[in-house]
Amino acid sequence: MTESLSNLLSENRTFPPTPEFAAAANAKPEIYDEAERDRLAFWEKQAGKLHWFKKWNTVLEWKAPFAKWFVGGKLNASYNALDRHVIEGRGDRVAFYFEGEPGDTKVLTYADMLREVKKAANALTSLGIKDGDRVAIYMPMIPEAVIAMLACARVGATHSVVFGGFSADSLLARIQDAEAKLVITADGGFRKGAAFPLKPIVDDALKGSHPVERVLVVKRTGQESAMGERDIWWHDLVEKQRAEHEAKPFDSEHSLFILYTSGTTAKPKGIHHTTGGYLTQAAFTHRMVFDIKPEKDIYWCTADVGWVTGHSYIVYGPMINGATQVIYEGTPDTPHKGRIFEMIEKYKVTILYTAPTLIRTWMKWGDEFPNKQNLKSLRLLGSVGEPINPEAWMWYREVIGGNRCPIVDTWWQTETGAIMISPLPGVTATKPGSAMLPLPGISAKVVDDSGNPVAKGSGGYLIIDKPWPSMLRGVWKEPARYQETYWSRFEGLYFAGDGAKLDGDGALWVLGRVDDVMNVSGHRISTTEVESALVSHDSVAEAAVVGAKDDLTGQAIVAFVILRGGVGAVQDGLEKALKEHVSKEIGPIARPKQIMVVNELPKTRSGKIMRRLLRDVAENRAVGDATTLADPNVMKLISEGLKSGKRED
Ligand code: WT7
Repeated sequence: MTESLSNLLSENRTFPPTPEFAAAANAKPEIYDEAERDRLAFWEKQAGKLHWFKKWNTVLEWKAPFAKWFVGGKLNASYNALDRHVIEGRGDRVAFYFEGEPGDTKVLTYADMLREVKKAANALTSLGIKDGDRVAIYMPMIPEAVIAMLACARVGATHSVVFGGFSADSLLARIQDAEAKLVITADGGFRKGAAFPLKPIVDDALKGSHPVERVLVVKRTGQESAMGERDIWWHDLVEKQRAEHEAKPFDSEHSLFILYTSGTTAKPKGIHHTTGGYLTQAAFTHRMVFDIKPEKDIYWCTADVGWVTGHSYIVYGPMINGATQVIYEGTPDTPHKGRIFEMIEKYKVTILYTAPTLIRTWMKWGDEFPNKQNLKSLRLLGSVGEPINPEAWMWYREVIGGNRCPIVDTWWQTETGAIMISPLPGVTATKPGSAMLPLPGISAKVVDDSGNPVAKGSGGYLIIDKPWPSMLRGVWKEPARYQETYWSRFEGLYFAGDGAKLDGDGALWVLGRVDDVMNVSGHRISTTEVESALVSHDSVAEAAVVGAKDDLTGQAIVAFVILRGGVGAVQDGLEKALKEHVSKEIGPIARPKQIMVVNELPKTRSGKIMRRLLRDVAENRAVGDATTLADPNVMKLISEGLKSGKRED
């Protein structure tokens, strides 16, 4: 890989903030200079906005690649998210408008949440959980999931949330690695119009060897649950607890949580986060990037608490800032494809934070669903998880945001803990598809193969060259793997695994994982760019592109496309038209050799396309390990659909 990523696609549209938005914005342009002048003083100022039982002595201890932030300081995450608001008179503010998939609702104020978390904390103590223990949480998206996380934090136990869609084997592996003593789960949850089981999966997982002593079970669906010796109902134990509990101070570097990221092949990594620095950056970024006005806004992040987005932008960031949020248990198409839009209207949501995969799904379903609802309450839109194609960005802006709302495309990772690269609403003139600039206090760059910064207009590897407060402290129990995975490609630099390009103005365009790069006749072409070109065609809702072995060109581009709602059956000449479109948008070098029209794409539970499996199809191989797919049937459908469908070339 001697040549950096080719910088092919160009995008000239730009959207400056309106004067009204800028005038009222939390972020002002000077914030960049302030952080630049003295980075550590800047982060110290942000940390000062949290409640500390004892102030730190040292801002940062950096023995690369190991960081300690706000050393000597003592605080409690749950106190910051709850007690503080109640003590300062905000107890009556709504923390959560919860809506279950069947339509049941619950409203919880900050005072309600504090009471429930105190009771749950007492319940954990009664089960022998103390600071330093690990607790696995395997729950649907219901308020008890948040309560469980904050109760762990309150007593100093480290939570490891395992997404409720994972299998018994995946759950067991995570329980074993973290050596969890307790599992908090539910009988089940609601998804796609039906109850799915959780407790039976926990039982299955615990047939293996493990250190789990007790299983605490929330009753959510009322499904028949076999309760054994080690099992105890949440309502039996938690309801009878006292609603008094004093939050104890913990060290700034006390372990707050572990969250496993599934690599495509290797054993999942337990990404380890601690308290003071993590909370500082989660709260700061939530305040600035989402421009939160806690007394007015209704904020909705559609993530699940099983992902880092749910940790940082549902539980910790927003609750520290005293935000009012919407949380929803179910899927966006139950009972109909307008569910999310209906809820935006119902709760008058002002800020929406979601993922490109959902935005493209909405595009595919068609504009009639959002158009049926009044979405005028929205004032800011966010995106996270993948590069957002410029056309999906424009659709989000026009159809969801009514051309009125700034969009923040936020780049970060489980490992970074909080947002690293994003526009600041009210300050940054945005470009569709670009995450724009590193946030104040963050130093990220694009470098070439030797680790030297690339010039404007070139592509390369996205790296971070200075420690940041919410950075991972390591891979749980695997310091060598931490060093090897993140710090070995370039001396002294954190390499995130993503490719990026810098445009002529110095704006950053994240191009996805570098392993998603194709090499066509010696040109390195990013899958994201070709996918964006395809999605910019009127008839395409979603596209996934892979490089398949080709005798002539090394790799040839094979594209899988989902057509937009209303486009209907494959029209003659469409495949040719799409190839020509890509050729025109990017250049003949990027012209796909083959285009396959499909109804679904293989995605992980967090919405990332598993290109590895598509490569298997494109290269006519048996499809590899598909166990982490959200829908295990997708690959079968794709293969069958292709066999019966027609192909060009
Ligand atoms: C990877 C991290 C961060 C919470 C959700 C995902 C990709 C994330 C963007 C973005 C382009 C993005 C990167 C990154 N990614 N946000 N705005 N633009 N790519 O967390 O599962 O740890 O995945 O998601 O490839 O490395 P994660």
